[in-house]
Amino acid sequence: MYDMNRDIDHILVSEQQLRDKVAELGAAISRDYAGRDLLLVSILKGAVVFMADLMRAVTIPCGIDFMVVSSYGGANTTTTGLVKIIKDLDQDLTGKDVLIVEDILDTGVTLSHLVPMLQMRNPNSVRICAILSKPSRRQADIEPDYKGFDVPDEFVVGYGLDYDEKYRNLPYVGVLKPQVYNK
Ligand code: IMP
Ligand code: MG
Repeated sequence: MYDMNRDIDHILVSEQQLRDKVAELGAAISRDYAGRDLLLVSILKGAVVFMADLMRAVTIPCGIDFMVVSSYGGANTTTTGLVKIIKDLDQDLTGKDVLIVEDILDTGVTLSHLVPMLQMRNPNSVRICAILSKPSRRQADIEPDYKGFDVPDEFVVGYGLDYDEKYRNLPYVGVLKPQVYNK
């Protein structure tokens, strides 16, 4: 049996740290959005693990929806700067308070394009909740409204984040051993 854990060089954010932070974020969101028409919008596939945890930490009524946007292709680990909607939302945003649930705000290029696209659909508000942020990589003038952890300028995997579509199912956030990239 091949255990993915052997490919990890070091852990950046542990399961316990993720659990505690998600509970904190869920409580803050529940307070801030009380009485509003909250819609959690998750960007597939990277944010799916965070979404599943965060939605259960939110205690007020809310809807969920999913989008697929293109930014990174295949095993390529650098941004293309091109953002395209591959799968759109199923519902109208009029009057809704949209909270984008993201795995990581890296360059910020993806969300700096997506936020104005969603704002054109007459929502009441559009904000961002990202479990991870790499501030040193930022190219666009955008910051998460709710943030989990800052991570250094290293390529990270786990808790939804992939390398070449793998390691999404690791329950923590870690950095791969260099030799994994040379396979
Ligand atoms: P952006 O550079 O902020 O536009 O990030 C776009 C997307 O790239 C993120 O939502 C992630 O899915 C992916 N990404 C950015 N940094 C990493 C990383 O370190 N590991 C895995 N995926 C990443
Ligand atoms: Mg993503």
